[in-house]
Amino acid sequence: MQIGIPLEVRAGEKRVAATPETVKKLAGQHSVFVQSGAGLGANIEDGEFEAAGAKIVGSAAELYAASDLVLKVRGLEESEFGLARKGSIIAGMLAPHDKEKMSAYAGHGLTAFAMESIPRISRAQSMDVLSSQANIGGYKSVMLAANAYGRFFPMLMTAAGTVKAARVLILGVGVAGLQAIATAKRLGAVIEAFDVRPAVKEQVLSLGAKFIEVPLEEGASAETSGGYAKEMSEEYKKKQAELIHARAIQSDIVITTALIPGRPAPVLLQEETVKAMRHGSVVVDMAVEFGGNCPLSEKDKVVEKHGVTLIGYSNLPAMVAADASALYARNMLNFINLLFDAKTGELNVNREDEIVSGTLVALNGELVIK
Ligand code: NAI
Repeated sequence: MQIGIPLEVRAGEKRVAATPETVKKLAGQHSVFVQSGAGLGANIEDGEFEAAGAKIVGSAAELYAASDLVLKVRGLEESEFGLARKGSIIAGMLAPHDKEKMSAYAGHGLTAFAMESIPRISRAQSMDVLSSQANIGGYKSVMLAANAYGRFFPMLMTAAGTVKAARVLILGVGVAGLQAIATAKRLGAVIEAFDVRPAVKEQVLSLGAKFIEVPLEEGASAETSGGYAKEMSEEYKKKQAELIHARAIQSDIVITTALIPGRPAPVLLQEETVKAMRHGSVVVDMAVEFGGNCPLSEKDKVVEKHGVTLIGYSNLPAMVAADASALYARNMLNFINLLFDAKTGELNVNREDEIVSGTLVALNGELVIK
């Protein structure tokens, strides 16, 4: 099989879907083509890919023409749909909730796999791109907050007096939120965290943060069978807004990570709350790509409103592109191994496998996503 790794074309996307480490493993069984410059955003030069066994091609057109299977970070842009060969396979973070885009893969006669839909089961952990990238995003959110904040994170006792520790509030404690807690803790901050899923309380406590909670109504559940959060009742949202307001105005930094798959991000930090926060406070809205957890944050911008700095970068993992690519590329390698027969090495899209069927969006031009 001919496997291709193009240069990502989306603005600001510096990651790449393969590294010399994964290319070396693929090149044992397949021919691997890498578009010249594809790794530069992640500090990988063409020569390193070449040394790992890849053939470097000069343009995206050549790359797509040569490839049966294309490994991507982001879904295809308009220009790329025109290049992808009918019958070829595309694997990447394709935004599977965008039905129009998914139809485009089928419409172009492609087979497509959306890596975001890897089921959260133990066998698939090594392929879980949402986790590997959210982990990096959580770390970077704290780095950005610390950089924008005009004070120290740790408590310091010096000859010139004592400096108080920063107070950090984390809203949404999935993979990104947990890493944000761990990173802020390492910097010496005092941390509180909130999530609709009571199941995360123990994890929050074990990282040395305080869990703040809104009691669930009797019999109510905040979690789907897949472990994701649900949209909550109006009554719950009212209590939640009051709790968050009270805690946010006591905080110096608020990092929001709350997402509900396939739906707009829940609004957690209202304008009145930002208004009431201390001058010089910092908000990092990690949900900005899905509408944001704070109506005041702006996508891919840092803005100051009511004396509060709001950071709205939508692609934090791309700001740590080398490590983000290394982890993503391993996730991808583990995933595509499932697409080949272990004995013959031939392509075998086994729809009986829940990881394969869970991620399959289009098969040879037929839309299969529900
Ligand atoms: P996510 O990125 O979909 O959402 C981030 C967090 O926001 C979640 O913790 C969610 O509960 C929270 N949230 C949603 N609405 C909220 C609201 N209104 N207020 C406050 N918080 C809100 O979540 P992520 O990080 O993808 O994790 C989803 C689930 O998957 C978790 O249960 C996690 O433990 C689980 N998981 C399982 C893995 C496995 O292999 N078994 C691997 C990784 C995650």
